[in-house]
Amino acid sequence: MAESLAFSKTADRRTIYKEIAPQVEALVEGETDTVANLANIAAVLKEAFDFFWVGFYLVKGNQLVLSAFQGTVACTRIDFDKGVCGHCYTTRETVIVPDVEQFPGHIACSSASKSEIVLPVFDKAGEVFAVLDVDSDRLDDFSQTDAEGLRKIVEIIEKKVLGA
Ligand code: SME
Repeated sequence: MAESLAFSKTADRRTIYKEIAPQVEALVEGETDTVANLANIAAVLKEAFDFFWVGFYLVKGNQLVLSAFQGTVACTRIDFDKGVCGHCYTTRETVIVPDVEQFPGHIACSSASKSEIVLPVFDKAGEVFAVLDVDSDRLDDFSQTDAEGLRKIVEIIEKKVLGA
């Protein structure tokens, strides 16, 4: 396992996503504990982009339950029909919210969070296993570049962590 992360601090996000993807793959290699792997992946994303909040909510019963994350304290349980995370779970699509105040039902874990992106993580059976939630303290901070870059990271989780 690599002990530190190498990426170009001044590069654009697309470049950084490319640089960190193989390192994320190496990081989870040989570790079978899912939450340990998700915890390190949250740490990579936090360090590489200095996002305000990065974390995973896992599908447990009929709710999304807080799991590995980096950032300020957050709500622990989200119903499937609530918030941006619930919307992502229900639609099984990546959701980009440029201004959280304009998203009906947005759950404000922190008033500092201004925009967010949430991606579904699928298990072997094609069911949503988790959602990856990334928050920014800046408005309109997420674009297609993030959707694509984070999708690649999620694909590593699906293949290498969940064996999908
Ligand atoms: N804003 C999310 C809740 C999770 S926190 O942002 C960490 C939502 O509306 O689902």
